[in-house]
Amino acid sequence: MEKTGTGIEGLDLMLNGGLPKNRVVLVSGSSGAGKTTLGMQFIYTGIVKYNEPGVYMTLEEDKQQIKEDMLGQGINLDGVSDRFRFIGGHIATIQRFKRKTKADVKDLIGEVEEVVHEINAKRVVLDPVNLFLMLFDSDNERREALALLTERLKKLDCTSLLLCEVKEQSMDISREGFEEFVADGVITLYNMRQGQSFLQGIAVRKMRGIEHHREIRPYEITDKGVVVYPTQPWLPSED
Ligand SMILES: Nc1ncnc2c1ncn2[C@@H]1O[C@H](COP(=O)(O)OP(=O)(O)O)[C@@H](O)[C@H]1O
Ligand SMILES: [Mg+2]
Repeated sequence: MEKTGTGIEGLDLMLNGGLPKNRVVLVSGSSGAGKTTLGMQFIYTGIVKYNEPGVYMTLEEDKQQIKEDMLGQGINLDGVSDRFRFIGGHIATIQRFKRKTKADVKDLIGEVEEVVHEINAKRVVLDPVNLFLMLFDSDNERREALALLTERLKKLDCTSLLLCEVKEQSMDISREGFEEFVADGVITLYNMRQGQSFLQGIAVRKMRGIEHHREIRPYEITDKGVVVYPTQPWLPSED
């Protein structure tokens, strides 16, 4: 199984080398857990270290603002603009576009495919998959859309992350309860209150095709992005 680095050293150690290439991995965590930061590190490191161009699709935040925020973590997206594409827009705009043009899921995925081909991207991030699913009206349509999306991403020969927002203090893997079934892997970010502080932990819950560590390990968001401590215990031992 060919692997590729996530951009986070400690996480690569937990994965015994990195993510399996050309797979789709769900990364879930509550708001502020660091999903966007991790997704951007994945894309940026792909470009500067692995020669893998990347596409980042956001459905919630202001692109300019994300770019500015990322500068604080050593990620200069304007400096790699030939191998990077930032697509998407606010969900309401896409919702309107979809209604007006009667675009279906294939058209929406087609937009992503076009950009991937344009720069020969090898990495894709969708931030967050929850909002993508909101574009569809029924559970059935949502499941189908997600299955089609993951299938097409794999055909593109891209390693992809679907970022998934779960409720605060949740131990759930996903929001809808079915996202994990189509993904080849699941990485979860936990945020547990301990006394007066929050302890952040990361775990690889599932990763088809590779052996990986199973413990929850602590992580922090720093000025170098998400940093994982792959050999430290997450919660202090109780004795
Ligand atoms: N330089 C930094 N040092 C420490 N924490 C930071 C830094 N920059 C951002 N953060 C933290 O990262 C959080 C944002 O993470 P983000 O990736 O946007 O999370 P999510 O996408 O899961 O909502 C902020 O709420 C802030 O607490
Ligand atoms: Mg985010």
